[in-house]
Amino acid sequence: MRKLAIIGGTGVEDPQKFPDFESRTIVTPYGEAAYKIGERNGAQVVFLSRHGTAHSVAPHKVNYRANIWALKKLGTEEVLATTAVGSLNRAITAGQLVICSDVLDFTKSRCSTFYDSPERGVVHVDFTSPYCPRLRAHLHKLLTKLGIEHSASGVYVCTEGPRFESPAEIKMFAKLGGDVVGMTNMPEAVLAREAELCYVNCSIVTNMAAGISPTPLSHSEVVAAMSESIEKTGRLIDAFIEEAPPAEGCSCASALAEFGGFKL
Ligand code: HPA
Repeated sequence: MRKLAIIGGTGVEDPQKFPDFESRTIVTPYGEAAYKIGERNGAQVVFLSRHGTAHSVAPHKVNYRANIWALKKLGTEEVLATTAVGSLNRAITAGQLVICSDVLDFTKSRCSTFYDSPERGVVHVDFTSPYCPRLRAHLHKLLTKLGIEHSASGVYVCTEGPRFESPAEIKMFAKLGGDVVGMTNMPEAVLAREAELCYVNCSIVTNMAAGISPTPLSHSEVVAAMSESIEKTGRLIDAFIEEAPPAEGCSCASALAEFGGFKL
């Protein structure tokens, strides 16, 4: 049975599309994780709301390790994550979707590994392709088929938050090669890689970033823009559930082979 998960970010918190799913919690070594689980098209689908169903967990307080551990424990193999982002790239505008291809990590306070104790040992995971290339190609195919405007690549800059960025920070990120900026894709993406999951991030552009936008930023602007993009995000999630990606094309499932594989 195909086992996949959707991690819903801002605006994709409680999709009505899973009314028949069961709400459950699971205890992990890092704390509890809440999720919904059910079956679609013969696949096990787990839905996990990153900020909680009432958007009550701030980006720097998300229990990323508990969430990814939970997905692994539930047997998940493929993860589609959504993230709301601002754009630093004038060619990528509000309403567009971006299949992220690389990442710049500017987080400061988050534990970004499962390997931080003598018992688990020391691991250095390869991150040359931070997002699963097989799922990236699959998303590109699905979005093209659905006629949804998107960028097939883009560098995600992850900030600590919860504040928005200063204009000088945005200028610096743009000079460093960033395309979009958000607060939640790290350490989620690297933990998924350590857990040997196939993980892809679809960013939804809600605003131009600070200093590029002609107006100050606000969370309500982000939420309003997300609600305009929710319909196409929902269609992408449906398509991702309906159509399995090709079996070959990545080595995510053996990311820790050098260290004897990921152990729960
Ligand atoms: N910055 C950081 N996070 C965001 C933004 C932004 O401009 N828009 C949506 N999430």
